[in-house]
Amino acid sequence: ARITLRQLLDHAAERGYGVPAFNVNNMEQVIAIMEAAAATDSPVILQASRGARSYAGDVMLAKMIEAAEITYPGIPICLHQDHGNDEGTCLSAIQHGYTSVMMDGSLKADAKTPADYDYNVGITKHVTDMAHRVGVSVEGELGVLGSLETGMGEAEDGHGAEGALSHDQLLTDPDQAVQFVKATKVDALAVAMGTSHGAYKFSRKPDGAILAMNVIRAINERMPALHMVMHGSSSVPQDLQEEFNKYGGKMPQTWGVPIEEILVGIKHGVRKVNIDTDCRLAMAAAIRKVGHEKPSEFDPRQFMKPALAALRDLCKQRFEAFGTAGQA
Ligand code: G3H
Ligand code: 13P
Ligand code: NA
Ligand code: ZN
Repeated sequence: ARITLRQLLDHAAERGYGVPAFNVNNMEQVIAIMEAAAATDSPVILQASRGARSYAGDVMLAKMIEAAEITYPGIPICLHQDHGNDEGTCLSAIQHGYTSVMMDGSLKADAKTPADYDYNVGITKHVTDMAHRVGVSVEGELGVLGSLETGMGEAEDGHGAEGALSHDQLLTDPDQAVQFVKATKVDALAVAMGTSHGAYKFSRKPDGAILAMNVIRAINERMPALHMVMHGSSSVPQDLQEEFNKYGGKMPQTWGVPIEEILVGIKHGVRKVNIDTDCRLAMAAAIRKVGHEKPSEFDPRQFMKPALAALRDLCKQRFEAFGTAGQA
């Protein structure tokens, strides 16, 4: 059954759990996540980026989710647009059956230039006004995702006239967050607290100096009923890095967001946890392994089956760790 983000996160808040939001681009990812959800009795958030929509095609993607719904009638599914960049992206997602959209107004529509507060409020409010009329939820984002180690914001190189971005610029301001939620009526808010997208988040195991969990605590104190979203929340597990490198991959040593820090977030109002990199890494390592161990193999299914299994195991672990398991 299809549910909205609001319905799912309200339930998660009531019961004190978090929901991983996994990115999907193809059939194997959809199947892997649904098998993990069914095995652990978890509700799911399947999210598609603009890149996913153009990779698979809107109809193909939407019909795959419909197939997942028919195959697993007992699993609540929220289909979410990840990082919508303008009204058109959000509206066309709604036309294709998405029950939730992210209007990421922290960046201009080119998805590269940081936006000012007024632009962000204006475009986000416009999307919530429209989406709420048709019962669709909206996630907004306030703050610049980026590294507190380097001062690099994601949308720019961080080296403007004044040099790298300051900590204050890279973190969501809790008081501004209160204004933003009130003005836009978003159902969930993505916050900036030191994480960034991709595999290379931290050059060491993160501590409070580079992963600012205090921002989440401060926002939660001001808005205990708010559903927060952590982007860039792959853990980039050491064993997956090793597995990937063992079969010819080249990933320099890196650190992601430790599960125990995500659990601190969930304790303080984080309800949606975005994970893409871990899923990619699990599948890519499994594909590399087949390529390495069976050089004569050319049936794509023999590559995809272990990749699907690796993703399924990863998703099961996250459902169990975040308390999503048993909540479907
Ligand atoms: O936010 C980024 C997600 O990992 C999606 O990445 O735009 O390459 O599909 P993508
Ligand atoms: P990761 O790159 O850490 O998996 O983050 C994914 C994300 O935030 C998608 O919106
Ligand atoms: Na999102
Ligand atoms: Zn993101």
